[in-house]
Amino acid sequence: MKKDFIDSNDFTKQELTDIIELSLSIKKAIAKGYYPPLMKNMTLGMIFQQSSTRTRVSFETAMSQMGGHAQYLGPGMIQLGGHETIGDTGRVLSYLTDIVMARVITHKTVVDLAQACSVPVINGMSDYNHPTQEIGDMCTIFENLPRGRRLEDIKVVFVGDGTQVCASLGFITTKLGMHFVHYGPKGHQLNEEHKRILEENCRASGGSFEITDDRNSVREADFIYTDVWYGLYENEMPKEERVRVFHDYQVNRELMQLGNLGCKFMHCLPATRGEDVTDEVADSEASLCWEQAGNRLTAMRGLLVYFSRNRQCHTDLALAAAKEELDRTLYEKLGRSVI
Ligand code: CP
Repeated sequence: MKKDFIDSNDFTKQELTDIIELSLSIKKAIAKGYYPPLMKNMTLGMIFQQSSTRTRVSFETAMSQMGGHAQYLGPGMIQLGGHETIGDTGRVLSYLTDIVMARVITHKTVVDLAQACSVPVINGMSDYNHPTQEIGDMCTIFENLPRGRRLEDIKVVFVGDGTQVCASLGFITTKLGMHFVHYGPKGHQLNEEHKRILEENCRASGGSFEITDDRNSVREADFIYTDVWYGLYENEMPKEERVRVFHDYQVNRELMQLGNLGCKFMHCLPATRGEDVTDEVADSEASLCWEQAGNRLTAMRGLLVYFSRNRQCHTDLALAAAKEELDRTLYEKLGRSVI
């Protein structure tokens, strides 16, 4: 069993399916009013080297809903980035928290952090991938499968820039045996290393993939997905340039009409309305992007429970013995017991 969730390609189809089904099962319990105390007394350390709405809020809400607590460790708030290394930060957090998540600028940072930490580490997005987004998106696809269709029959088309979200969508869809297309302009498509991974995934799963700038590749899509054009943060391209490169790749009504009847729109958000997607599509009946944002919470609950499973195994007997021991010390030193 792997300690960390850094890259979905480290996991089998069955393991990923287990995480998705566990996430959906916890979601159902909570929808019926049962909040399982599966993270009771646990603390999540949340390292953010970049800003976030969905990832931060969903992790924090997931922890509080399941009886735990999350600590936001944002840019400039901890010693990381000063003279303390990521390795030393990880070793310290392993003594102070039960599980760590990190949104990092470069992928190596989260890999090094996971190596240094004895507690589980979850990748909250790097420049290479966005695996927690993958689990949330698969929850959304599982919940919105076209009637009478199997996962293996589904075609998912990512439109636009080959961002880490595009790579991640390719990884998980091909791992699960689906048909993945990246429709994007040359120079901004998934690279040779991505292709090697997608090929490997498809060989094992029976899925397929295509990387192309041919608009016909969007035909018969069941899900059309996009992300902002040319990255966020320090990667952002000047507006004029990105509009020139990507203007044919906007998800608008005409592009949606190329998909299957009932084709759904997906976006990891944040969107740049009027660029990567029109208001008309983002706010349409076909849009799943709000459900997707909600399913970030679904995914975080499942991931937190799955990866902290080894820290949840105290028997009633062991707890009673621990209390008795503490009671003895309290009585000796303070003349009282716990309660
Ligand atoms: N999709 C996503 O990761 O959103 P945030 O950057 O707001 O976390």
